[in-house]
Amino acid sequence: MSVLLLGGTAEARSLAELLIADGVPVVTSLAGAVTDSRLPPGEVRIGGFGGVPGLASYLREHGIAAVVDATHPFAAQMTANAAAACARVGVPLVRLSRPGWAARDDAASWHWVDTIADARRAAESLGARVFLAIGRQSLGEFVDWTDRPVLARVVDAPDFEVPATWEVLRARGPFTLDDELDLLRGHDIDVLVSKDSGGPTEAKLDAAATRGVAVVMVRRPALPEGVPVVRSAAEAATWLRPAH
Ligand SMILES: NC(=O)c1ccc[n+]([C@@H]2O[C@H](COP(=O)([O-])OP(=O)(O)OC[C@H]3O[C@@H](n4cnc5c(N)ncnc54)[C@H](OP(=O)(O)O)[C@@H]3O)[C@@H](O)[C@H]2O)c1
Repeated sequence: MSVLLLGGTAEARSLAELLIADGVPVVTSLAGAVTDSRLPPGEVRIGGFGGVPGLASYLREHGIAAVVDATHPFAAQMTANAAAACARVGVPLVRLSRPGWAARDDAASWHWVDTIADARRAAESLGARVFLAIGRQSLGEFVDWTDRPVLARVVDAPDFEVPATWEVLRARGPFTLDDELDLLRGHDIDVLVSKDSGGPTEAKLDAAATRGVAVVMVRRPALPEGVPVVRSAAEAATWLRPAH
């Protein structure tokens, strides 16, 4: 009986490695949205399931013993679907969600917002030159910012035509503090917009603190009720032990 690992994060890859090393059969599921050559070990399936009914059928048909939702903290739809489908079929589910950045000393100085729309409003009031480090999918909400210099950093290119005042930088983190300082300095950035993703890309926050750049931070979406949460791949592996 396999574990289904909803992936797309470094933690999911680490967990796949731990489980394979332990001899646990694992299927990692990827949305397929991002180009990533670093596939995890074990079986990999790619593409959506077709909502809650599709995922519930998959769990039944493949005799899945347990599900680990190790998707990105902002992949709220997949997380909600996993909770609903697992409850429907009676398969144990755990959410693997790495710690966010709220515990940092400088977190109290950030402008915390609940949505990308709120982030946009906050950024508009804080300065002219904005660095959007929020991922490709959320960039669309800024597309009518045609009058201001924007630096947008993404792994894959946006699927819309960006305004002429924007510079799109394609890069995959993590980045060093020196790189981030150079970027903020080179583009004379006033405001950094980030999601509270947690993980290894926090040098941008250190650089912003060093340079006095305002930070707009989007809070994580709420977790589904009743789903246990673990913070690391090792914790998830421990949680899974009774399940198989
Ligand atoms: N959101 C971010 O900022 C972010 C950042 C880095 C990586 N990612 C990764 O990119 C993927 C897509 O993120 P998103 O924000 O678009 O998710 P989302 O909005 O929560 O999910 C949208 C739909 O994509 C499909 N999907 C998402 N994750 C999947 C997975 N691991 N396996 C199979 N299907 C999946 C599902 O389609 P069906 O309903 O058809 O099943 C889901 O309903 C996630 O796996 C996530 O871990 C997201």
